[in-house]
Amino acid sequence: MAVELIDDTLKRPEAGYETLVAVDGPEEDPLGYTCFGRTPMTEQTWDLYWIAVDPATQGRGVGKQLLAAFEELSKHRTGSGTIVRVETSSQEEYDGTVAFYLRNDYTTVGRITGFYRHDDDLLILSKRLT
Ligand SMILES: CC(C)(COP(=O)(O)OP(=O)(O)OC[C@H]1O[C@@H](n2cnc3c(N)ncnc32)[C@H](O)[C@@H]1OP(=O)(O)O)[C@@H](O)C(=O)NCCC(=O)NCCS
Repeated sequence: MAVELIDDTLKRPEAGYETLVAVDGPEEDPLGYTCFGRTPMTEQTWDLYWIAVDPATQGRGVGKQLLAAFEELSKHRTGSGTIVRVETSSQEEYDGTVAFYLRNDYTTVGRITGFYRHDDDLLILSKRLT
């Protein structure tokens, strides 16, 4: 799914997906990436669709840098007051992901019980960029 999104970004710019890729240097393999886009029908809201860091590189600040780069870009485009929306799963395996967002000043603003499966809720996190 992640590769499909990146392919879409490159092949169909009109789809509205953008990506940022973290690398150590031009010849190096990617360390991580993030995929995002403007939220349709909103004035200054963005969806962060994916952020992923190579497991061998996790915990070294790459995710934080990717998130900061995305936030800087989105705020540059839509100004102070820009809102970011992130969706994730309530399953235990995503606890670290949720902790990552909370650590980066995101707030849990919504939950739909049983959204993905009867024991797997949708969590919505958000941050206003000032
Ligand atoms: C979530 C993810 C992108 C974080 O990237 P990362 O490079 O490992 O995170 P960082 O090293 O930049 O951490 C930034 C901060 O978040 C905290 N954090 C990151 N992962 C955490 C975890 N699993 N548990 C608790 N805190 C965590 C770090 O402690 C750090 O805090 P600090 O600012 O006090 O130093 C990465 O773990 C990942 O790719 N996970 C799998 C894919 C995924 O779940 N993506 C999100 C759904 S789209």
